[in-house]
Amino acid sequence: MNEPNLEWEKLSFSYTKTDYNVRCTYKDGKWGPIEVSDSEYVPMHIAAACLHYGQESFEGLKAFRGKDGKVRVFRMEENAKRFIRSAEGISMQPMPVELFCEMVRKVVKLNERFIPPYGTGASLYIRPLEIGISAQVGVAPADEYMVIMLVTPVGPYFKNGFKPIKVCMSREYDRVAPKGTGSIKIGGNYAASLNAGQKAHELGYSVMLYLDPKEKEYLDECGAANFFGVKDNTYITPDSSTVLPSITNMSLCELAKDLGMKVERRQIPLSELETFEECSACGTAAVCSPIGRIDDLDNGKVYTYGEEGKAGEMTTKLYDALRGIQYGEVPDEHGWCEIIEFDEK
Ligand code: PLP
Ligand code: COI
Repeated sequence: MNEPNLEWEKLSFSYTKTDYNVRCTYKDGKWGPIEVSDSEYVPMHIAAACLHYGQESFEGLKAFRGKDGKVRVFRMEENAKRFIRSAEGISMQPMPVELFCEMVRKVVKLNERFIPPYGTGASLYIRPLEIGISAQVGVAPADEYMVIMLVTPVGPYFKNGFKPIKVCMSREYDRVAPKGTGSIKIGGNYAASLNAGQKAHELGYSVMLYLDPKEKEYLDECGAANFFGVKDNTYITPDSSTVLPSITNMSLCELAKDLGMKVERRQIPLSELETFEECSACGTAAVCSPIGRIDDLDNGKVYTYGEEGKAGEMTTKLYDALRGIQYGEVPDEHGWCEIIEFDEK
């Protein structure tokens, strides 16, 4: 196998061209075969529903090369189920779980040489997406859809890796509406978050921490990641209909219990921020990124957590437990990883 000329340790969370992507089209009421492509482009009708009315959803999951050399994909059935919910949320054709998983296995195998070696801290990010492709001028769902899965090797989402980040809050920005699309993973939510993200970056923050869009009294989520706080040996994460149910967060809740912590999923009023011992953002890309400081841009309040530049004790334990399972360093007691079988060479 020809090793790509990449500095694995130096990878950031960005796009690197790989060998192949896989595609599957829904047409005439059924899903077609999985097709392999080496093109980075999609020919499309100029009136395709995704281009005009935003019929697009996506997912994000990772494959890891483990300590034992095996390749593990983390909880892909959960991504497949969320992909269905996202499709249904914007009237697209949902892809069956088994077909989704087949596409994941195939795209990982086809790009084996881009799966970063163990010990580099990098992984292979898998990005499934679905688009409405049939021509549509009236506002209505398409009747043809395409699912594409591409992969790209990635490093840390936040540039300093597992170092505390600085985030900000502002009542001037909402990512989603109170009864909108926050709990599904569609491109439109991310388009709507770009100005807020740019604002946060301009002011020197990693990301915007969103408040609930209705009352602006409770914490929602942290850019493209969920939020959790820790106090009194308890893991506390928002229960909100406007956040994306994170698979990483769901897993960390289980790992927190394994570590003997209590877990609370409930509304978190802003006033509780000053009572947390640790705070963190979590997601596939973000993994578990400790938050060192939160600035409320509207009233100048500043909340700080832990020692400068250092992740808190429980956040570190949770991060290690999750990474340990993903990289095959500790037994996968919950059965979260699927080992990808490669053909003998
Ligand atoms: N919240 C948002 C808005 C996201 O985009 C993501 C990323 O997928 C997450 C949370 C984290 O979810 P997961 O852990 O399933 O990747
Ligand atoms: C992920 O964590 O997989 C995400 O989708 C975040 C992102 C939008 C870059």
